[in-house]
Amino acid sequence: MKLWGGRFTKEENALVNQFNASISFDQRFYRQDICGSIAHVTMLAKQGILTESEREQIVAGLEGILSDIEGGTLNIDPAAEDIHSFVEAALISRIGDAGKKLHTGRSRNDQVALDMKLYVRDEINALDALVKELLQTVLVVIEENLETYMPGFTHLQKAQPVTVAHHFGAYFEMFLRDRSRLSDIRKRMNTCPLGAGALAGTTYPLDREYTASLLDFDCATRNSMDSVSDRDYLIELCGAMATIMMHLSRFSEEIILWNSNEYQFVELDDAYSTGSSIMPQKKNPDIAELVRGKTGRVYGALTSILTTMKGLPLAYNKDMQEDKELVFDAIDTTKGCLALFTGMLATMKFNKETMKRSAMNGFTNATDAADYLVNRGIPFRDAHGIIGRLVLYCLDRGISLDEMSLEEYKAINPVFEKDIYEAISLKTCVERRTTLGAPGPSVMRKTAEGYRKMLEA
Ligand code: ARG
Repeated sequence: MKLWGGRFTKEENALVNQFNASISFDQRFYRQDICGSIAHVTMLAKQGILTESEREQIVAGLEGILSDIEGGTLNIDPAAEDIHSFVEAALISRIGDAGKKLHTGRSRNDQVALDMKLYVRDEINALDALVKELLQTVLVVIEENLETYMPGFTHLQKAQPVTVAHHFGAYFEMFLRDRSRLSDIRKRMNTCPLGAGALAGTTYPLDREYTASLLDFDCATRNSMDSVSDRDYLIELCGAMATIMMHLSRFSEEIILWNSNEYQFVELDDAYSTGSSIMPQKKNPDIAELVRGKTGRVYGALTSILTTMKGLPLAYNKDMQEDKELVFDAIDTTKGCLALFTGMLATMKFNKETMKRSAMNGFTNATDAADYLVNRGIPFRDAHGIIGRLVLYCLDRGISLDEMSLEEYKAINPVFEKDIYEAISLKTCVERRTTLGAPGPSVMRKTAEGYRKMLEA
């Protein structure tokens, strides 16, 4: 049965029905739909628009529908147009005439705007909790690896030595920003559209602020046309999820590299790796690759919803029904990736010796060697040139800066003394980097303490 049959003389054809229907995906928010309706009738009764007895019958009916859906005794009818019509029809068939009053002073336009907000609000909380768990896992790695040396890269070329704690600290910062983006969105979206009607409010004396407070919104929306046609918060959420995925994807890319035969910096747990059907030696980082791959899907959702919205005149248009599947998919994908990535990270082993050896090769101490000369009065630009020649000299001989004899150093410049070896040792290079934000374990420890406090707050 259609909610709007009165004006129509022909039955729709089956394909049109199917094309138009959203029940296959909007049944996801049956609970939000029912809770919104309960708040709505509570407000209608308080305003004297419904009687107390009507309110009681409707609320009891809706509560029964909710518990029957959850208990599996009421199946959502796949032939219904959408979840709103399904719940209303179920209510009318259970309680009769009182049920027909549920939709007083309401449209599906403000109803769907409400349901989606209620659903998304919970999902933002769930996403935030998952990012927090990931941060906790990253922080454990930081705390345990303040002195685990590794090469830092620029252009994927070894640059200067850092620590695992410092490298992971960069990701900690990214995921912190992700949490703050989620919290901004949640704050901004927390206004209640119910009572906006189809687009122009209603003639009933609704108390919209009351409905808003029943549903834990900060307030009611201010403009009824905007209320039914605003999907900004979904765009913002897709943007925030796209950014989370971008961070996970960069992290995945590094883990894939580090886990490769060439790097061997880390080893993924068997539980988070897969084998090959043909090559017996393989242990592939499929989870990290899938996270990297699924990033494209979440970007797709963002592009898709932006494109859907760009040409829409005010107020509601059916195009907006397209917001659901893609936002749901992006939420499911991002949540799944966060959970799996966290598990993968928590079980990943670091090959500390290999990382350290790698940090010692590749002239990651060349800047420190130049700084040594600067401390002995040589201008930095000249020092840069001198060390550049030293590097060439070493490359020719297949040795590192630490392996040159003092005579060889002095032959290139007499200011070199035997303290050069200490000055360019891996330990010194890392420990002396103590500016705010640098990898030196003394500063990084303080940073990590700050991170711990943030997570516990
Ligand atoms: N299924 C619709 C949606 O998701 C609900 C709103 C229907 N409103 C309407 N005027 N047809 O947008």
